[in-house]
Amino acid sequence: DPMTVTDASSFVDSKIAVVPDFPKPGILFRDVTPLFSDADAFATVTTALSEPFDGGFVAVAGIEARGFALAGGIAIEQGVGVLTVRKAGKLPGEVLSESYALEYGEATLELRPNQIPAGSSVLIVDDVLATGGTVEATITLLERAGYVVAGVAVLLELDGLGGRARLEGRVPVHALSSAPA
Ligand code: PRP
Ligand code: MG
Repeated sequence: DPMTVTDASSFVDSKIAVVPDFPKPGILFRDVTPLFSDADAFATVTTALSEPFDGGFVAVAGIEARGFALAGGIAIEQGVGVLTVRKAGKLPGEVLSESYALEYGEATLELRPNQIPAGSSVLIVDDVLATGGTVEATITLLERAGYVVAGVAVLLELDGLGGRARLEGRVPVHALSSAPA
């Protein structure tokens, strides 16, 4: 339903707050919490995020932390489970780890393997796509676990940071809206 996607894009544009110099000087932070706390906005974006992939995934992988809320909404609506892609050191037992470059330094994401059958198709969801490093590490984790990435869905894509170019050709990328970095 194209109306849903249009409404969802409007919610992303109107409800995400742009905060200069947070969490440090020079960073233009996108605060998605006003979008999450509005029931209509949250339901609309949840529907629109998964729409191009509906029927094509058996689990949704949420990236800590804002991806968790979005993944939960999609999972209930689509009748699938959630995989949590977590910051390092949060998961017990056997974990797969993938490190990736940040603007300054390095970060690590982790995934528990063997939670769903090998070969399962998984949709990745997060709030913002910037350089694509976070999503690329998540794709690698899911593939190492034996899953097939059905696609990537984000609320907002930041232009000019190379995220889409980095992922395209590897997985389909669906962003509800875009903004200059
Ligand atoms: C933000 C955002 C995405 C990521 C996108 O998370 O929530 O996950 O950056 O950036 P990238 O495309 O350049 O990888 P951040 O790493 O700031 O951590 P947070 O989600 O814990 O706030
Ligand atoms: Mg993040």
